[in-house]
Amino acid sequence: MITHDERSHTLTLHTRHTTYQMKVDEYRVLLHCYYGPRVGEGDLSYLIQYADRGFSPNPNEAGNRRDYSLDTLPQEYSTCGVGDFRVLSAEVELPDGSRLLDLRYAGHEVRPGKYVLPGLPAFHGEGGETLSVRLRDAASGVEVELLYGIFEDFDLITRAARITNCGETAVGLCRAMSLCLDVGRADLDLMTFDGGHTRERNLSRAPLRPGVQGVGSARGMSSHQHNPFVILCEQGAGEDHGLCYGAALLYSGDFLAEAERSQFEDARLVMGIHPQNFRWPLAPGESFTTPEAALVCSPDGFARLTHCLHRAVRERLIRDPYRGRRRPVLVNNWEATYFDFNEEKLAALAEVSAGLGAELFVMDDGWFGQRNDDLRGLGDWTVNREKLPGGLEALVPRIQKLGMQFGIWVEPEMVNEDSQLYRQHPDWALAVPGRPPVHGRSQLVLDFGRQEVREHIYAALRKVLDSAEISYVKWDMNRALTDLWSAALPPQRQGEVCHRYMLGIYELLDRLRADYPALLIEGCAGGGGRFDLGMLYYTPQIWCSDNTDAIDRLRIQYGTSFCYPSGCMGSHVSVSPNEQNGRITPLETRGVVAMSGAFGYEMDLGKCSEEEKALIREQIAVFKRHWRLIQEGDYYRLTDPFQEGGCTAWQYVSPDRREALVSLVTGSTRAAQPFRTLRLKGLDPALRYRVNGGEALYGGDQLLYGGYPIPPFWGDYQSMQLYLEAAG
Ligand code: GLA
Repeated sequence: MITHDERSHTLTLHTRHTTYQMKVDEYRVLLHCYYGPRVGEGDLSYLIQYADRGFSPNPNEAGNRRDYSLDTLPQEYSTCGVGDFRVLSAEVELPDGSRLLDLRYAGHEVRPGKYVLPGLPAFHGEGGETLSVRLRDAASGVEVELLYGIFEDFDLITRAARITNCGETAVGLCRAMSLCLDVGRADLDLMTFDGGHTRERNLSRAPLRPGVQGVGSARGMSSHQHNPFVILCEQGAGEDHGLCYGAALLYSGDFLAEAERSQFEDARLVMGIHPQNFRWPLAPGESFTTPEAALVCSPDGFARLTHCLHRAVRERLIRDPYRGRRRPVLVNNWEATYFDFNEEKLAALAEVSAGLGAELFVMDDGWFGQRNDDLRGLGDWTVNREKLPGGLEALVPRIQKLGMQFGIWVEPEMVNEDSQLYRQHPDWALAVPGRPPVHGRSQLVLDFGRQEVREHIYAALRKVLDSAEISYVKWDMNRALTDLWSAALPPQRQGEVCHRYMLGIYELLDRLRADYPALLIEGCAGGGGRFDLGMLYYTPQIWCSDNTDAIDRLRIQYGTSFCYPSGCMGSHVSVSPNEQNGRITPLETRGVVAMSGAFGYEMDLGKCSEEEKALIREQIAVFKRHWRLIQEGDYYRLTDPFQEGGCTAWQYVSPDRREALVSLVTGSTRAAQPFRTLRLKGLDPALRYRVNGGEALYGGDQLLYGGYPIPPFWGDYQSMQLYLEAAG
């Protein structure tokens, strides 16, 4: 619900459990009053305090009123050069060379339906409303339209900003954040999700210290190193208590999330496109629209925050036909064969896979051009006839005869110098004339901002997709962007390259979706280098990490779970010892970890013993039985995998709380293990539950408050699953 109180000039957004309010003050400055647990109607601007502070300047029209300063007041969208020295939301270079932006309220509108952002990913509203607030810098004519969408049932608020040059001369947009949130306190922790390739989204948490701290990516991709999702929370907040705010950017390119603890002990969070490689000229009449940001607020801890985000992602981000639909259990040949395969090898692997209950066979890298290693071939999307003499026309029906669907790996954004495409169109790769471009995995990045590049690649992909029945595409991206320069843009517009690249990717993914509506696309960027809500809008699952070790994955999947639902995390069982870290883990445990995601196998199943095959058959059957809980249930983190030596446990609960699935994995073993119980979450205290089909019934209250005993385990990295079903 969006309300406007004309007397107090407040604009209020209510979701079911939260309230967000802003106010137009006597100088038409848009102040932020409140974001937190839901409160009744009323002007919350009494929370804003005014005081004369040394060196905090006053706007001209405040005259000698020294207690009014943009430097101390909470802003809805912070401005540049006119007295607020905290982190900026927007910065514009004006025709006279100045960078002042004095944004004042110029009107607002409540529109039916949620706004759309053409060409950009966004949560889709079914009904709903949009609040649009127009701010204007009178001297330059630059206008900022702040857009708000509300998703009441998910306690989610979305935001975006549209910046328009309503003046008469061109201006240069240097910074355009999607969201600015001023919080009137600074005793907060900032939680970020960090790491690197094969170590994505490890949680780090630290108190806000004075000054600006943040995470971001200037790699042209949201990156393995940091994720465009952060949490600001009360110090001491945990899974079930404490106020916390989650902020996510629906964008897969460069991003910046900055939190500032100011001199007066308040905090500001801004999030948007990273300004480092960004400059967007706006001719008179032109606009720039930022990506969407999503905000959630939970008054009682991270579990609720996660549930709001997961439900919103499942129901309002992921689109049909994959919304609510079980993902096929897949077998991918990458770790089974790497580049060394042919039709017979693939058919043999598919045959074993089908016999075990797998439903989709994915042919990974190496099927095209001269792609016998990772030095060549990218860009040449025609079947390598030495490996597949009959082409896909021969291979795919063989796979289908086994009762399996067929999927294919592509990396459309890239080109190897050793490829026909590069020899024909060397200027299609990002590179500055006169400078040899930087290599990444021996490849270059195609300039996807260019229409003709996209057209060429898309035509080639369509030929492949039309040549056989292909149900799935793994869309990979295996290097960061460097040498940012496009042959298609004049010098003064080179700051557009990165964002145009991203818009190009989104456009192509949209076309793919429109032309092949049933196609399941799995995102990937060297594992989880582009795991963000932007990508999830187009690709309902994303390969979570190139690290398939079950124990490392516990941490990766734990961090990922704060924002992203399990059903979106591509997660496969691979061989032991693991090929990334050499760790030895039982097949049972690898199955328990991998089935907490978009499940599959990535190993030579032909080499498995009969006993192992029986276990795999059973794992696939368990996943098929419980997929709805895993994919659609409420997710609870029961323990923290970063606690050394402990065990990691998590739980899914059905919306009616009648079913739950608990998974637990132990760490390295020790003698004389302590007696432990695991307190479960999310159950109905009034119901009685049967565990793993046993005779005994346990009260929901008993399991919630007393817990369930964890037996001692023999050996390292053991696992256990408990399926709970309400009796009667
Ligand atoms: C990336 C992906 C892997 C695999 C290889 C193929 O690293 O993350 O899963 O597809 O590329 O080259």
